[in-house]
Amino acid sequence: MTQTIEDRGLRTYKSAKTRHLLMCRPTYFDVTYSINPWMDPAKETSADVGLDQWKRLHDLFVALGHEVELVEPVPGLPDMVFSANGAIVIDGKVLVAKFRHRQRADEAEAYVDWFSFGGWDEVSQAEYVNEGEGDFLLAGGEILAASGFRTDPRSHDEVQEFFGRPVLSLELVDPRFYHLDTALAVLNPGEVMYYPGAFSFASQALLADRFPDAILAHEADAEVFGLNALSDGLHVMLPTHAVGLAAHLRERGYLPIGIELGELLKAGGSVKCCTLELRS
Ligand code: ARG
Repeated sequence: MTQTIEDRGLRTYKSAKTRHLLMCRPTYFDVTYSINPWMDPAKETSADVGLDQWKRLHDLFVALGHEVELVEPVPGLPDMVFSANGAIVIDGKVLVAKFRHRQRADEAEAYVDWFSFGGWDEVSQAEYVNEGEGDFLLAGGEILAASGFRTDPRSHDEVQEFFGRPVLSLELVDPRFYHLDTALAVLNPGEVMYYPGAFSFASQALLADRFPDAILAHEADAEVFGLNALSDGLHVMLPTHAVGLAAHLRERGYLPIGIELGELLKAGGSVKCCTLELRS
């Protein structure tokens, strides 16, 4: 009798898809203000360590065959390394963010310029507060959208209209997980992992209904930003300390790759925050 791969205890692996990503070198990285509970300006930070950690992530994406583009960092905008917040890009259409806090407001202009000069012809700026892929994640045909701390719930309709895709509105309730991408990661079109405690009860029910097979993260993994992960369909880049999630991912046929981004975590960001996906 022939043995299947599973009979022999081997896993069937998922498959990777090449991504087009936008990143921003943390040349001016620092924590000079506090707009989330992770940020403490009294703590020492090092732009050099941040740069070194960021470069490893960048080089890993390149080594895995992903196409990485860079937007020039702007002095005086220390959070610009978190390019996920700059825009939402789907079907070649670009909706540039509108930041909630004045400390980050000027980043929007850098993204408008980058996309406009880069030949993206449908570039608009959000009317309502909208922190880009920090709060909007494409999961198959639909867009998961969050509000609660940053993004204005009115922007969920704006995004639905702009991209012509259905939006599932979710509410974040734990200030440690102030952006959707700190509480939920899309692994493949219909597959996600998330930390239920970050969401309101109503949103938890919506997620359970939509993604019955989701990987549910424990608080310990969520607290080390394990959900701030980037999946290419097979490899899942996530913070090194999220060991519980890494084990779950392996069981499901993913290849988790731990990344040390402790310096950037002092600003409340990790792998996904440093990465904006460009979908043409
Ligand atoms: N310090 C930044 C802020 O509070 C971190 C942004 C993290 N980005 C993200 N996509 N979650 O805005």
